[in-house]
Amino acid sequence: MACIVVVGTQWGDEGKGKVVDLLTNKADAVVRYQGGNNAGHTVMFGDKKFITHLIPSGILQKTTSILGNGVVIDPEELINEINGLKEMNISVDKYFYISDQAHLVMPWHKKFDLLREEQKGNKKIGTTGRGIGPAYEDKIRRSGIRIGDLLHKGDFKNKLEEIVDEKNQILNFSFKINDETFNAEKLFLEFEKYIEKLKPFICNTPDLINNLIDNNKNIIFEGAQGSFLDIDHGTYPYVTSSNTLSGGACTGSGIGPTRITDVLGIVKAYTTRVGSGPFPTELFDKYGMLLQSEGNEFGATTGRTRRCGWFDAVLVRNAVLINGITSIAVMKLDVLDKFKYIKIAIGYKLPNGKISGNIPSSLENVTPVYEEMPGWNCKTLGITDYEKLPLEMIAYLERISEIVGASVSIISTGPKRENSIFVKHENLL
Ligand code: GDP
Ligand code: IMO
Ligand code: MG
Repeated sequence: MACIVVVGTQWGDEGKGKVVDLLTNKADAVVRYQGGNNAGHTVMFGDKKFITHLIPSGILQKTTSILGNGVVIDPEELINEINGLKEMNISVDKYFYISDQAHLVMPWHKKFDLLREEQKGNKKIGTTGRGIGPAYEDKIRRSGIRIGDLLHKGDFKNKLEEIVDEKNQILNFSFKINDETFNAEKLFLEFEKYIEKLKPFICNTPDLINNLIDNNKNIIFEGAQGSFLDIDHGTYPYVTSSNTLSGGACTGSGIGPTRITDVLGIVKAYTTRVGSGPFPTELFDKYGMLLQSEGNEFGATTGRTRRCGWFDAVLVRNAVLINGITSIAVMKLDVLDKFKYIKIAIGYKLPNGKISGNIPSSLENVTPVYEEMPGWNCKTLGITDYEKLPLEMIAYLERISEIVGASVSIISTGPKRENSIFVKHENLL
């Protein structure tokens, strides 16, 4: 039995989807525990490319796929995703489960997400606009609607009327929008349709997951976003609104910490970030552009260009600590094939002139202190044999592993399932 949490160690888009897919053939279930359809996880096999947003990537291999209580669900988008998978001949019917306790992303959440971003002007977070922040806000202030509430139509209707009233007031008074209102009656009819489609999947998922564990099954907890987008540990306020760290897998799925056997940190061989917020190693020169183009760094959810920079070992070392990472998967090494040299940030020069190897309370105005390594300057895309990796790449991997304090269990040399090397490691599934 293994319960492995797959977690992003940077600002998301490290390649979590690819790794979850790689491990899924040995898993009995894959669970999403936080976030919503702000995530975009890419899986490529054969000539096909799939991007999952809300449904766990395990669904692509017809593995039991569970949306835990910590996830926020936009029912319309979830149904679109289910339909999209059907069009690609993947039926979710026998494999999909949704926690009755998961909160809903409602139309006002999406609207307020966009309006607040507009209001913030150049201080905007750069959210995905999927209503994630406002949905978690309502959850935390105890006024959200859970998907299980939809099963009790009378109560849901009453609740909806109350909430719609409040949201219309916000629309009118806070945002000065008077020509548009939410309509409870219309929404009720819309949600009646959603619930008919989603009802078969709704259940008590903490029971389901704990039962699977009791029966010695292998479970993957598929993290979304990355460690530095975590609401507590990220570059606040430029973060998402959930606990993206491995600890979130417990509260977001209803298992105890003693159940987790492994935490696999997904590490991109350089750094990217979508949206606003500090990014000490960001490159604005030809090297940044090369990372962007070679890595095809466009957001899988919004299509936005990802900001790119050198590998930041200070960040990832911290991610190893705060997630309890037991090994790392290093992704997208092939993207560095054309670099003559590669830099690793091993510390920061703080605004007061001092050098620190640790993360300060704010990453604004810090300057990275770099160590330089030779590049390998040859094509490594698709190499599957560790012995065939260039020595410079092995040295880079060893150095990363040494600085961040975690051993490497997976090496990724391309986007496809087969472009991967498993390094001997005791604890993976
Ligand atoms: P996630 O959100 O962490 O699942 O990552 P995304 O899917 O948003 O972004 C990762 C991107 O990198 C996707 O387009 C993947 O297909 C791609 N990818 C993953 N691993 C590799 C790799 O080793 N090499 C290359 N070139 N691309 C990769
Ligand atoms: P995956 O799972 C990268 C970023 C947004 C924005 C901030 C807040 O694919 O790695 P939100 O819509 O969550 O309120 O936006 O978080 N963000 C991501 N960046 N990958 C993601 O998911 C992200 N999900 C949210 O760009 O900066
Ligand atoms: Mg992504």
